[in-house]
Amino acid sequence: MGYKTKEWRNSMRVTLDYNNMMDTFVGEHGLSSKDVSKYVRKAAAAYRYVSENRGKDELYMGWTELPYNQTEIVADIKETAKMIRSKFQYFVVLGIGGSALGPIMAFNALCHLHYNDLTKIQRKGPKFYVEDNVDPVRMRDLLDVIEPEKTCFNVISKSGATSETMAQYLIILDLLTKAGVNIKENVIFTTDAKKGNLKKISDEVGGIKSYILPDGVGGRFSELSPVGLLPAAVCGIDIKGLLAGAAYMDHLCKPHSMYKNPALMSAVLQIEAMKQGKNIGVMMPYSDNLKYLADWYCQLWAESLGKNETLDGQPCNVGQTPVKSLGVTDQHSQVQLYTEGPYDKVVTFLSLKKYGCEMTIPHGCENIPDVSFLGGHTMEELIQAENAATAYALTKAGRMNYTIWIPELNAFTLGQLLFLFEMQTAYAGALLNINTFNQPGVEEGKKATFALLGKAGYAEKKKELDSLPAKDPACII
Ligand code: PA5
Repeated sequence: MGYKTKEWRNSMRVTLDYNNMMDTFVGEHGLSSKDVSKYVRKAAAAYRYVSENRGKDELYMGWTELPYNQTEIVADIKETAKMIRSKFQYFVVLGIGGSALGPIMAFNALCHLHYNDLTKIQRKGPKFYVEDNVDPVRMRDLLDVIEPEKTCFNVISKSGATSETMAQYLIILDLLTKAGVNIKENVIFTTDAKKGNLKKISDEVGGIKSYILPDGVGGRFSELSPVGLLPAAVCGIDIKGLLAGAAYMDHLCKPHSMYKNPALMSAVLQIEAMKQGKNIGVMMPYSDNLKYLADWYCQLWAESLGKNETLDGQPCNVGQTPVKSLGVTDQHSQVQLYTEGPYDKVVTFLSLKKYGCEMTIPHGCENIPDVSFLGGHTMEELIQAENAATAYALTKAGRMNYTIWIPELNAFTLGQLLFLFEMQTAYAGALLNINTFNQPGVEEGKKATFALLGKAGYAEKKKELDSLPAKDPACII
């Protein structure tokens, strides 16, 4: 691996501390060492399943190879990003779900938290927006702040059939056409290589610059593909660092013993916690930069594990509800529930060892002890103390929690986090014996939308919707 020195990479290692999951720390509501050790064989089988199938497109496991097989693509993306950074004032991602949450997450994690408010000289690139909804107000408001002819639109959709993304595409196509702009100048597609409507559109128009979302990479596992890499590069993010971090975590997940493999152990802990009734998984970063990593993780965990059938066709209804919580902000809204409510949660802290920002709280209000004790401490000390205190309070209250330690936030450590959670999800799916990589439950709502909007071929579905009993006015109060 040619990214920085070995010593530096090791100093940036992301680690898992699961002491507070154990009964030694949380008492009767924690896991005994036997609860964990009984997984040795199952975990080995899950490890084998993931290792044997990694890279297989037909199983949607192509994402495991993304850290290694994109040298040419990365070079092309970097060139394109350079052009976009000098030519355009705005860069807008049109996409939803796996085509949006990754770009939002990486932007928020590694760019200035008020990036769009910086000057062009400070940003060195275009303003950045991701439109992942079809709320008309949001679209109108976006169009109020961008100038379409000075905007590069990255339409990201594997299928090119996602109503939300394609509705947005039709709006910008209309705007660009009316402004006399050739869409080839201002639009980049990220889509399937052979199938899908964006491919058809590109062929019809005579070749729109397109990046490929590889066959074996599903939306929620696509952040390290061009889906995430192009937007990241446009925002000045070190995409080689992201991929190097992912490769480093892949290396850390090579041991087949769950006691040495952080993703496998994390999966085992969550699955056993679920079996013990902890059906809510709270992802709680103590970092504003990682706020949207929790959103990205929620999709990964929910869509991958929420299934009603095992791989052998047996009915099951599995999955753990992921919840996003932000430290310290949500200490003042949710932590009361986590500490004293039902014993149905596992809290995962994402904790930074270094924030990379020195800010000392000045002395003052010396006659008010409630305030004056803060003076002389740094903001970093304060947030880290609150993180430690919350972990302590949860542990004291018998609530399972564990910490993922991040030496500092950079492209390399973010790449590690992404790969860690992707591997954890793959192992957890294997432990549950489900198909981790499909999402049949999302389809029904999509079909109902098509029927309601009169799409050809959905007349029967429309009839089904119309055949619902009339609403009882008594239930509308
Ligand atoms: O994770 C997934 O597969 C989904 O969230 C998809 O990314 C989302 O539905 C968008 O699909 P598409 O890329 O086909 O527009």
